[in-house]
Amino acid sequence: MWISGVKESKEGAEVVFKGVVLRKKGQYRYRVFDKTGEIWIDSDTPLTEGRAYEFRGRYKGGVVMVEEARELEEVDVSDFLPFAENPEENERRFWNVVDSVSDVRLREFLRFVFEPIWDDFRKGVAAKKYHHAYIGGLLEHTANVGEIALRVAPMYGKDGVRADLVIAGALLHDIGKVWELKLFPKFEYHEDYGKWGHIFMGASFVKEKGREFGLPEDLLLDLVHVILAHHGEYAKGSPVTPKIPEALLVHLIDNLDAQMNHVLKSDRENGG
Ligand SMILES: [Fe+2]
Ligand SMILES: [Fe+2]
Repeated sequence: MWISGVKESKEGAEVVFKGVVLRKKGQYRYRVFDKTGEIWIDSDTPLTEGRAYEFRGRYKGGVVMVEEARELEEVDVSDFLPFAENPEENERRFWNVVDSVSDVRLREFLRFVFEPIWDDFRKGVAAKKYHHAYIGGLLEHTANVGEIALRVAPMYGKDGVRADLVIAGALLHDIGKVWELKLFPKFEYHEDYGKWGHIFMGASFVKEKGREFGLPEDLLLDLVHVILAHHGEYAKGSPVTPKIPEALLVHLIDNLDAQMNHVLKSDRENGG
């Protein structure tokens, strides 16, 4: 059974389930997770963090009293992590947005940036817990923000808003999460790059790639600004607030999709 099912068991019921040990607490207590959630267990048998086991025991007072723990050999820990529902569809939607950028330099630049890191980007998570916290969640969130930008930005074209800058900024805004968050054995901030955060990581990566590619300096300045300002305010981690309408629009669209996902998928619990 899944951990979500264990938690619904009756007091004293026998439960059998598989999970990965996240951490130890005290002498006997361990935190265990699978793709449906986390649970505390008590085990006399010593367990190793990051390893997968099959547990048999009794569910009492919200904790599993383990009677038998069998280590699972040849298991991929990623099988215990939650995945996005439509990864191929999200890839198709993402590249479709890229192809919709009409400025050929920006379109080529997006390919130049994303192609070398595609495998990491495709598997990335968007957050530890709050939104799109599953493998492929970063791609799903980015495709959503890109698609909304594609629809909304042209509406303000008559007021001088550069739709291509909004769309490119939408696709690049969270690229730093590839480095900020690590997937194994659990979605966590990376011990090194977590200290720098995805806003700095993304902005500096795009700045370097932009110079390497030869993107016009004025365009690169604005694109990096969109990334830096996408959290909208200092208190939310942006070092600058949006100073151009394109940056404000990416910030608003990002917030829209993050909050909608949080509400719609809150049943896909992850983290602790
Ligand atoms: Fe962000
Ligand atoms: Fe985002």
